[in-house]
Amino acid sequence: MEKDLKRIFVEKFGEEATGEYFAPGRINLIGEHTDYNGGYVFPASITIGTYGLAKKREDQKVRLYSENFPEKGIIEFDLSNLDYDKAHDWTNYPKGMVRFLKEAGYPIEQGFEVVYYGNIPNGAGLSSSASIELLTGVILRDLYDLEVAMLDLVKTGKKVENEFIGVNSGIMDQFAIGMGQKDHALLLDTNTLEYEVVPAEFGEYVVAIMNTNKRRELADSKYNERRSECEEALRRLQSELAIQTLGQLDEATFFAHTNLIADETLVKRAKHAVTENQRTLKAKEALQAGDLVAFGQLLNASHASLKEDYEVTGIELDTLVAAAQAHPSVLGARMTGAGFGGCAIALVKASDWEDFVANVSKQYLEKIGYATDIYQASIDDGARKLA
Ligand code: GLA
Repeated sequence: MEKDLKRIFVEKFGEEATGEYFAPGRINLIGEHTDYNGGYVFPASITIGTYGLAKKREDQKVRLYSENFPEKGIIEFDLSNLDYDKAHDWTNYPKGMVRFLKEAGYPIEQGFEVVYYGNIPNGAGLSSSASIELLTGVILRDLYDLEVAMLDLVKTGKKVENEFIGVNSGIMDQFAIGMGQKDHALLLDTNTLEYEVVPAEFGEYVVAIMNTNKRRELADSKYNERRSECEEALRRLQSELAIQTLGQLDEATFFAHTNLIADETLVKRAKHAVTENQRTLKAKEALQAGDLVAFGQLLNASHASLKEDYEVTGIELDTLVAAAQAHPSVLGARMTGAGFGGCAIALVKASDWEDFVANVSKQYLEKIGYATDIYQASIDDGARKLA
């Protein structure tokens, strides 16, 4: 950790913290915009994330400070009022966790204080908000000895996004961050929450994370709109098909019934959801079989579908991905996360890393007018207590 959070904690709260915690960010290898369609996702938790130092208080006050927003100072609220409050800014994420855990019956009777610090670039689409949620969950579990399973913290984090913040997201981010395992990706069936832990073995290749540095807020993006479009397409298909989610459709059945949807845009949205789901399963098999060429081609096909049919990429992501795909040492590249900005990933031959970075950076700067940031992803464990 590049910050002296222990010193900062003492400076802000006058005493030493009793525990140190970490929650990662995540990348999604493939399976984008499938999690709210009952499909598969294939994410992994990464080494960058959010650190927290915490201590219980004797009274009812919750006092939170983020080293990422020092100008906002300590933000304070009371356990007796856990309503969403715009003025409480980023602390609405931790507040929502406290609220829903208390509502579920977990005894959180005293207040607490936390110093947060995240090294996930803000708005990068690597799930900084889910990282704060799960970090808070792990802190609360430890401070109050809550007997709560990680999966329940994961579900609580999703509830915070959906019901407290107002983003209709699926469960992928919280799941990856809570359940992630070092050097593995998780193939998650978002319909059943059954999952398979798959070794993320890329041989002489590494996964690059390329940041568009274009900020994006899910709440004002078209995220919720895409979700409703999929729901409408599903509703129309249900007039003849006995399905609960788009994730239950194979490609042949879908293409034989697009006439039921009877709207060009809605057909494109649903087509992405259905085909992406199949690509995700194929990609998992390719990775397990060590067929990185096939895996890379599926990444490329995923990006094309997100660009043409789902329309969630934009000039920044498309420029990065096209530059990466054109490099001779790249097997595949795609946007990762919600899109509309944020990050893309690429599978790059490690020995050609420098040339890859130089090339993609140059093309991005020339076309977009500001720089990209490119680094290698390392996959590490999910949310946890450090000390
Ligand atoms: C965001 C959401 C996830 C998922 C992705 C798109 O990260 O939080 O639930 O829908 O977008 O795959």
